[in-house]
Amino acid sequence: MLFNIFKKNKVEKKRGSQYLSLKVREVVKETEDAVTVYFEQPDPYLDYKPGQFLTLILEVNGKEERRSYSLSTSPYVDPHPGITVKRVEGGLVSNHLNDGIRPGKTIEVMKPMGHFTTDFHSKNKNHFILIAGGSGITPIMGIAKSVLVNEPNSKVTLVYCNRSEDQIIFDTVIQEMVAKNPGRFEVVHTLTQPANEWAGYKGRLDEAKIERILQEHYYPEAGKEIFFLCGPEGLMEASIEALVKLGKDEESIHRESFYTSSTEEAEAKSPSSDGSPAITREVTIALEGESHTYEVGPGKTILEAGLDAGYDMPYSCQSGLCTACRGKLSSGKVKMDQDAGLSASEKEEGYILCCVAHPESGDIKIEIG
Ligand code: FES
Repeated sequence: MLFNIFKKNKVEKKRGSQYLSLKVREVVKETEDAVTVYFEQPDPYLDYKPGQFLTLILEVNGKEERRSYSLSTSPYVDPHPGITVKRVEGGLVSNHLNDGIRPGKTIEVMKPMGHFTTDFHSKNKNHFILIAGGSGITPIMGIAKSVLVNEPNSKVTLVYCNRSEDQIIFDTVIQEMVAKNPGRFEVVHTLTQPANEWAGYKGRLDEAKIERILQEHYYPEAGKEIFFLCGPEGLMEASIEALVKLGKDEESIHRESFYTSSTEEAEAKSPSSDGSPAITREVTIALEGESHTYEVGPGKTILEAGLDAGYDMPYSCQSGLCTACRGKLSSGKVKMDQDAGLSASEKEEGYILCCVAHPESGDIKIEIG
């Protein structure tokens, strides 16, 4: 799953503790246009939760590019961590990863991040309903595998929409999981362009279809319902509408947004040209135990100005979604273009997203990380 697309001119910097290098172990072709890139375990082993993502930092055509991809593996099941990458038409990095990555290559990444996950316990009795569209299956796979191995009393229903049968990422693995977990794991496929002989659901996952599927696969005795949604925006909205209509507990709904826009579209979404204050302010950041003060000019975000000043601040999507640039405001006031990536409790605790934040006062101090 791809979150967003962003590029920066390469600046030589000393990387902080949030970065590490991973060596490609194996590249597995999942479908015509998707691969899973497995990495050798670093020392110590990669510490991640199922559903989290990795931000890759690659040099393509002489420029540093950053992309975030969900881990499709489970730390409880898979010996090696892996990301699954679907080609985006014209996408620089997704095509590079599909065509040009070979075992042995070392890739710099940021440590795993993301809140699209949960804790597991052997005593839990839950019914996980996982709704995925296309490459939205990526984080969902790690979660499904983790439930099945960690919670023997829990059940998983996967609702998965694709264009056609040959586009189903992890088709064989999913069939094996169904066979190995009778009564505990079931999958409901729907295809938007099925072959004539397809006997399953047809058409996209709209609100009515999701409602119907959830009613048909409602098991009151299966325990607490927990929902994980990942896919294109339309599918996510339809899922939420259906879940609300069915009276499901909103607290039990987890969602992961992602873009598949082109670089140009993503850059057009850059928040730097909004109505941010037309004066230059000073900002002090604490990064890797060191304090740095720099100026943020009109129209610039705190992240953009920090990168321009040469500080190796963490970031990925630059759209306020991935939280890679999260910092805690200890002094001053900022205005964020949007804060959808932060939970209510994070906002209350003073966390901000530097990629969408502009200074609104003097004496701004932010602890990064
Ligand atoms: S870089 Fe992704 S939220 Fe700021």
